[in-house]
Amino acid sequence: MQTLFTAREIAERVQRLGDEISRDFQDSPLTVIGVLHGSVVFVADLMRAIATPHQLGFVTASSYRGTATAPEELRLDLDSLPDLAGRNVLLVDDILDTGRTLSALTVRLAECEPRAVRTAVLLWKKERTETVIMPDYVGFEIPNRFVVGYGLDFNGDYRHLPYIGVLD
Ligand code: XMP
Repeated sequence: MQTLFTAREIAERVQRLGDEISRDFQDSPLTVIGVLHGSVVFVADLMRAIATPHQLGFVTASSYRGTATAPEELRLDLDSLPDLAGRNVLLVDDILDTGRTLSALTVRLAECEPRAVRTAVLLWKKERTETVIMPDYVGFEIPNRFVVGYGLDFNGDYRHLPYIGVLD
């Protein structure tokens, strides 16, 4: 497997994102929300790089492959979220690909009456993004290759790798 970003490169980038987010949210209540399962390693590192006190929550997003008659369906589960009313929300995902997941989640989170919703992704496959969503914080822009590691999986495997690699 070809290494795209080493553990050290990821750690340095995540710390810089954390510094930026700390500055932007220093005077307002913040809740960081990770998208399970892919963001779990990124969220764990990012929240320790954010110096501003904040709360934590998770949502689940999963895609189900469609049939000839039914297109691919995106299922969202927001049942275990903390109260977001009046708070700044930072929605954190591992990768922004077509943008469907973050677009749909942003709409659903707005129903919880937060002060504002911002988004952070570690990786952005910019050339693949179909929706108008523009992530507020981006770790790295990457080409259209399938990547694994640092939380990202292929059929449930490779999430444990401390680096990000391109799967052939
Ligand atoms: P959308 O298209 O909604 O997709 O922006 C976001 C979700 O798609 C998955 N995804 C990947 N997972 N390697 C992965 O392990 C990849 O290269 C990749 N591209 C997209 C991922 O679950 C992400 O949350």
